[in-house]
Amino acid sequence: MAKHLLGLENFTKAELVNYLDNAEGFVEVSSREIKKVPSLRGKTIVNLFLEPSTRTRTSFEIAAKRLSADTINISGSDSSVNKGENLLDTTQTLEALAASVLVLRHRESGAHRFLATHLKNTSIVNAGDGTHEHPTQGLIDCLTLRQIYGDRFYGGLTIAIVGDVLHSRVARSNIFAHRLLGNKIRLVGPPTLLPDYYVEKSAFDYPNLTVHHSLKDGIEGVDAIIALRMQLERQDGFFVPSLKEYSKNFCLTENIIKATCPKAVLLHPGPVNRGVEVASDVAYGTRSYVNRQVTIGIAVRMAVLFLLTSGTKEKLTTVNES
Ligand code: CP
Repeated sequence: MAKHLLGLENFTKAELVNYLDNAEGFVEVSSREIKKVPSLRGKTIVNLFLEPSTRTRTSFEIAAKRLSADTINISGSDSSVNKGENLLDTTQTLEALAASVLVLRHRESGAHRFLATHLKNTSIVNAGDGTHEHPTQGLIDCLTLRQIYGDRFYGGLTIAIVGDVLHSRVARSNIFAHRLLGNKIRLVGPPTLLPDYYVEKSAFDYPNLTVHHSLKDGIEGVDAIIALRMQLERQDGFFVPSLKEYSKNFCLTENIIKATCPKAVLLHPGPVNRGVEVASDVAYGTRSYVNRQVTIGIAVRMAVLFLLTSGTKEKLTTVNES
């Protein structure tokens, strides 16, 4: 029976922690001289990316290879999607080819949930669906913060998510995770990029979530900032007068961080628009965990592939013994 990772919205706290604990184990595996384990020998992982990606696609491929799975990468331009085949037929074709896991990125929110109802033997992993969720990025951000803050990660943090919240699947996955953990979340951005349902807190049933339209107020005293990319490819209207105007009010510079939350760490899912949402020196400076997030991404994706295919929710001891 296939299991899927569609999003973090319906996770329990125990499930979230189990993913993070398993990922932590794979961080250790990734630090070994020989980083390969035989856990997924005989399994086939298909990466079908119908939107651009560098980090997610590459790290899923590395993760699958480190688990000894066979890996196939397909992009929109080299698949029969280009000849008009619909997504369901493409997916069922990959299932007929005995894919154990299909890692899919797709521009339509909810595409994965629809496909999951049709798949019997293939697990589907959401590698980003429209503006809905990016659960593995949410797990990466959580593990990064847990490694930095230890026990405070469990309800003791105040986190600002800054920028284009409206179009961000990363923001949504983080909100769902931190709602489970009890951390305080501040959403920060211009009113045009913070939709009404975020403003109406009841929509998330999350009293620890607040909305701020001033960067200074929003990041005052926070422990961590998750900066979001301006998703110009999803903006089919005029959400800000210009990028110059946006960056004047919302670009995270060292000066404003030092003045408001000097100890804050910076996370960003990437790719970074330097000088738009984050100043260049901050993006890869001393408070930045951006490259650490990328590295942790391999371990998180190893954990996801392992947990979906192993048929068990046991921890990593299974991997080491296999
Ligand atoms: N964070 C992220 O999804 O990056 P890519 O688009 O490069 O995969």
